Amino acid sequence: MRFGEWSDIAPPTTFLYTDKIHEQPNTGVGLAKAHLRKVTLDNFSECMSLKVNESQQEFIAPNVKSLAEAYVNPTLSPLAIYDVKVAGYEKPQLPMVGFIMYEITAGVGFILRLMIEHNYQRQGYGRAASLEVIRRLKLHRF
Ligand SMILES: CC(C)(COP(=O)(O)OP(=O)(O)OC[C@H]1O[C@@H](n2cnc3c(N)ncnc32)[C@H](O)[C@@H]1OP(=O)(O)O)[C@@H](O)C(=O)NCCC(=O)NCCS
Repeated sequence: MRFGEWSDIAPPTTFLYTDKIHEQPNTGVGLAKAHLRKVTLDNFSECMSLKVNESQQEFIAPNVKSLAEAYVNPTLSPLAIYDVKVAGYEKPQLPMVGFIMYEITAGVGFILRLMIEHNYQRQGYGRAASLEVIRRLKLHRF
């Protein structure tokens, strides 16, 4: 893997929690790793095409709406979720697995949106992406 060539995919965007595996009650989930990248011209179509199960649609806004909100609201940070295997590559070699968006406003951070494409759910990506965003929020100097 090649690191450090792309400002938006620097190593801190990768969250690894294999050291916490014994704290994960869901077998296998502890091995999953999420890598977060900006949503750009290259991947926004894929981001908009991600789907959750029909029964979950009421819980989350469509990604196209979240991206539109982020376009007009600079306090929002929309990020694409990938498996950590794509870290360091210019173009992801694997499909996007989900989407997460957080907000920092008035000195407080919020995770506003989180969705994992239905084919990739229950593999630990949702947890790993959430923890990575929480880590970023803790690093933010309010
Ligand atoms: C909620 C969601 C993001 C979880 O993502 P995921 O990658 O499947 O979750 P993970 O594999 O990381 O699992 C994280 C935890 O959630 C649990 N979980 C995940 N899906 C679950 C489900 N359908 N029912 C019960 N528990 C579930 C896992 O068991 C795990 O808990 P554990 O570690 O204590 O066992 C995903 O189901 C989703 O996109 N749902 C639709 C959108 C949504 O509801 N978003 C949240 C509101 S904004």
